[in-house]
Amino acid sequence: MTPSFQTIAWTADGRVRLLDQRRLPRTVEYLVLDTAADVADAIRTLVIRGAPAIGCAASYGIAVEALRLAHEPSDRFSPRLAQAFDTLAASRPTAVNLFWALHRMRAVWCTHALEDPAAIARLLLLEAHAILEADVAANRRMGELGAALVPDGASVLTHCNAGALATAGHGTALGVIRSAVAAGKRVSVFADETRPVLQGARLTAWELQQDGIPVTLLPDAAAGYLMSRGGIDLVIVGADRVAANGDVANKIGTFPVAVLAARHGIPFYVACPLSTLDLSLDNGASIPIEERGREEVAGYGSEVWAPDGVPTFNPAFDVTPADLVTALITEAGVVRKPDRESLQGLVDSV
Ligand code: MRU
Repeated sequence: MTPSFQTIAWTADGRVRLLDQRRLPRTVEYLVLDTAADVADAIRTLVIRGAPAIGCAASYGIAVEALRLAHEPSDRFSPRLAQAFDTLAASRPTAVNLFWALHRMRAVWCTHALEDPAAIARLLLLEAHAILEADVAANRRMGELGAALVPDGASVLTHCNAGALATAGHGTALGVIRSAVAAGKRVSVFADETRPVLQGARLTAWELQQDGIPVTLLPDAAAGYLMSRGGIDLVIVGADRVAANGDVANKIGTFPVAVLAARHGIPFYVACPLSTLDLSLDNGASIPIEERGREEVAGYGSEVWAPDGVPTFNPAFDVTPADLVTALITEAGVVRKPDRESLQGLVDSV
């Protein structure tokens, strides 16, 4: 199944095109950007979101900036490109794919640092294309591997949006569902609305509807009741960062879903590419968790419903301990009960 939209693309005239996810589902509108600062701003303001998509956008942010500066002499090109790396790295803290992608881009720059800026810029663009293409390929492979875990007729709960909108295409958690459907399985999806930014209600519901995959929207707080009635066969979510011991950072509210799944004996699967693994962090307690603004909790859009003066707490992610994860689905294989040894083995296998 090929989605009818493109989350991120490189335009024929050398700019970065992003589907503006803030406007979905009402309006399908693309922004075309030509500086790293604009791409960083788009990441920070959730024009583009989802761990793999953020990494791809950042790569193109570097490429577009390098091409913009390509006619500068090296002594002006280098500090300005270094600044672009810093600006993009500061856009959001939790999804490690951002730093992974910037690291890959920087490695290309370092290897070719003595070449002229125009040559470096061309190589950076090729690397950005390679990162995007590898993400789609990883998602398709994850889809094939994960589809085997989805029984025919399954009711699947997901949280947030880990679909084509959150990646370069196909999706991670929704990629598994897409692949299961493509393999002829009947699957119905229950999408948590995902307070406070409503990625489930606005994005997952829209994305699945585009593909004709049955989707029912529920308040986050209804997931436990639905499970208690036997309404869910498995849970599948994406991830923003997985620590060396298998702890998983994902959208706020994922941890309670995992606890509920364990309580009801329902498998809890996490689908993510290897670029989401951060084996430099011993466990989930060291994962930086983004805190976002009051306006997301105190109201929505222009509407404010909370009383003035009441403080808010708005972490964008939480950490699900590894022991609640039934299996991690990656492009290199499915790991049941992920732990240090199995995750290291996965990384060593590629
Ligand atoms: O704040 P967001 O919308 O960027 O959060 C996204 C998520 O938490 C996704 O579940 C995660 O990035 C995996 S996307 C394949």
